[in-house]
Amino acid sequence: MLAMNYRGPYRVRAQHKEEPEIEHPNDAIIRVTRSCICGSDLHLYHGLVPDTRVGMTFGHEFTGIVEEVGPSVQNLKVGDHVLVPFNIFCGSCFFCQKELYSNCHNTNPEASAVGAIYGYGHITGGYDGGQAEFVRVPMADVGPMVIPKDLHVDDAVLLTDALPTGYQAAEMGDIQEGDTVVVFGAGPVGIFAAKSAWLMGAGRVIVVDHVEYRLEFVKNFAQCEVVNFKEVNDMAEHIKRMTDWLGADVCIDAVGCEAAGNAMQQLTGRYMKLQAGSATALHWAINSVRKGGNVSIVGVYGPTFNAVPIGNAINKGLTLRMNQASVKRHLPRLIEHIRAGHIEPRKIITHRVPLEDVSDAYHIFSSKLDNCIKTILVPPGVSGIGLVQ
Ligand SMILES: NC(=O)c1ccc[n+]([C@@H]2O[C@H](COP(=O)([O-])OP(=O)(O)OC[C@H]3O[C@@H](n4cnc5c(N)ncnc54)[C@H](O)[C@@H]3O)[C@@H](O)[C@H]2O)c1
Ligand SMILES: [Zn+2]
Ligand SMILES: [Zn+2]
Repeated sequence: MLAMNYRGPYRVRAQHKEEPEIEHPNDAIIRVTRSCICGSDLHLYHGLVPDTRVGMTFGHEFTGIVEEVGPSVQNLKVGDHVLVPFNIFCGSCFFCQKELYSNCHNTNPEASAVGAIYGYGHITGGYDGGQAEFVRVPMADVGPMVIPKDLHVDDAVLLTDALPTGYQAAEMGDIQEGDTVVVFGAGPVGIFAAKSAWLMGAGRVIVVDHVEYRLEFVKNFAQCEVVNFKEVNDMAEHIKRMTDWLGADVCIDAVGCEAAGNAMQQLTGRYMKLQAGSATALHWAINSVRKGGNVSIVGVYGPTFNAVPIGNAINKGLTLRMNQASVKRHLPRLIEHIRAGHIEPRKIITHRVPLEDVSDAYHIFSSKLDNCIKTILVPPGVSGIGLVQ
């Protein structure tokens, strides 16, 4: 089959690879109909995630048609068109019972903090991902969801990560009616966090980035105010100036370990690797939120330490919440919002690229070329699929 193949930092190729096989009775093999490239894939692509092995296929946002099921699979049948949450989880451990699916204790043999994720190197289990023609889906009775007939497949694929992550970012902010919410990052996750903030009762939403076309997009898509941080000297002071000198009620970090905006953070976090990524957006979130406010973090950081202003957080009495999203928990509510017309996820898709051209697709997304926000990779032979039949 054709699959994305990691050859080293900044080098990915579409190459032929062995088709996956059923390895466990509860596995399914899925023929991929859509896969996306996530901002998290860029951390892999840039060589920042330890134990990302050559030969790995990335891709944790995908939909597909069930091709084969293992003997114990009961909830799926061959031919079902499914969306597959990016978390691989067992559904029954202590953490899954608390709906902390991203923290499943049974699926990631490599680490105990995070559960398993498709196509995210060996620190999250070493499972191959969905930027391929076929993918093995473990725990097939638990993760995948048959795509409802009235849901567009392009919306469905965004329900596997970007939308639920943005939604969970807003949820962890515990937004109260009328709150001012500042979202750092105008990538897909930040865009959906901004949109979700309104759904949760925000009175004002401000999005911060430095990529002008993304700020322009989010301003229209989420009817929010925007700030280009290149035009700002001191972010915390700027946000305070915009909020009667109190600070925002809620700040969301939807940027993570590759944040721009501070040379020292970039030098120590991205280039010298003295800390687990550049924590500039997190600094700004902690320093821009009001006393007693909430900071929600969905931007990804490495597992070791980061230089974050924890003293400011304690002195201001902040609540910090963070996690990898537990996608499955949000699906029923988000499908209701899509059906009600509150959100049209597929509007963020800017690029639809044949899987053969995966190398170009990564380059365009990574370098923010051609007004790229979200890219869908389409495997050979399935480009005609629109509405699910
Ligand atoms: N927690 C989860 O479950 C989860 C799921 C998906 C993605 N993520 C993470 O969320 C983050 C965003 O993902 P994405 O797909 O939107 O990525 P993306 O790379 O498309 O977007 C990140 C945006 O942040 C902007 N940015 C850079 N430095 C900034 C700063 N200092 N302040 C404000 N904006 C800044 C960039 O210009 C870019 O537009 C990534 O770290 C990704 O790994 C987490
Ligand atoms: Zn992701
Ligand atoms: Zn579990």
